Amino acid sequence: MDGSSLPRPVAAALTDPFEIGGVPISNRVLLAPLAGIGNWFVRLQAKRHGAGLAVSEMVSSFALHHRNERTLRELMRIHPDEHPVSIQLFGHDAEVMRSGAAIAAEAGADLIDINMGCPVPKVRRTGAGAQLLRDPDLALALARGAAEGSGLPVTVKLRSGIEAGDRSGFDLAVRLVEEGGVAAIGFHPRAATKGHKGAPDYALTRELVERIEVPVIVSGGLNSAEAARAAYRESGAAAVMIARGSLGNPWLFEELTGSRTEPPTREEIVAELLWVVDRAEEHLGAARAERYLRKFYPWYAERLQAPPEIADELQRSADLGRARELIGSLAEPVGVA
Ligand SMILES: Cc1cc2nc3c(=O)[nH]c(=O)nc-3n(C[C@H](O)[C@H](O)[C@H](O)COP(=O)(O)O)c2cc1C
Repeated sequence: MDGSSLPRPVAAALTDPFEIGGVPISNRVLLAPLAGIGNWFVRLQAKRHGAGLAVSEMVSSFALHHRNERTLRELMRIHPDEHPVSIQLFGHDAEVMRSGAAIAAEAGADLIDINMGCPVPKVRRTGAGAQLLRDPDLALALARGAAEGSGLPVTVKLRSGIEAGDRSGFDLAVRLVEEGGVAAIGFHPRAATKGHKGAPDYALTRELVERIEVPVIVSGGLNSAEAARAAYRESGAAAVMIARGSLGNPWLFEELTGSRTEPPTREEIVAELLWVVDRAEEHLGAARAERYLRKFYPWYAERLQAPPEIADELQRSADLGRARELIGSLAEPVGVA
């Protein structure tokens, strides 16, 4: 029988369920970890719009280990409707990782993810994040520590390498799975030194998919439904992880999971932003929410093509009541009285 008559494997649809270490995930469109952004309500927003799994912003294993009060109260807050949820930890000490992961499990995490991709010098200097590509034995000890401490499946998110052309992230991923029992790999196929710029290497991602037995989740360059579908196809990954493409655009999850074909209306965008404002106030109190929300406003103002004077006032507003008024005024199309 020649190869051409063999049935071709049918690629899973993005809407098909899969599992990570036995944890069922309802589809293959995930929210990526986003530092300073991926709190419980941003994850809940992604879930409301159809994401199969949301990963938290990175949380210091040391802060958890020392039971830092704000870290426990704010970063370990998990909404009952978020599950399954993955909590991402960073650190450079296996014992501390074990204890931090135990606390994340107590707080209700379903999965623990370890950050081995952060390129920020402040993080790398401590030996954490992407620096772990240079110390595979420590990386393995962290993965084992997290699994032992939490009793949960552990995943790792990493880069392809430190410098362009370097495959140390690929090699580490293989060891983490084969020797460290890691349940899935989040692969961002850009060198750490490239930050978030440049074309991700989906061909290298495919090589990893073919090399390891656990799900590979591809990250990088997924700014639109077309880009995410193309990366999914090219890489053969088990799932996609949406990062910057989700900022102010939770509708991307609906588009990718087939529940939306039309862009959101102005009313929907305004209602969504008002929901975010309410959740931020509930989470941080009015004074801190006012400052925190300045990160969020430009994403929505841009989608609404807000007139510059409204966008500026919103950005400077020190009063949530006024911010809500300004946002409400954007429901009318620009230039229509
Ligand atoms: C503001 C911001 C914060 C991020 N924080 C994290 C983080 O905490 N942990 C992590 O593993 N990756 C983090 N990343 C990387 C993203 O998860 C993702 O891998 C990267 O943005 C590439 O995807 P994109 O090109 O589709 O945005 C962050 C990226 C951005 C832009």
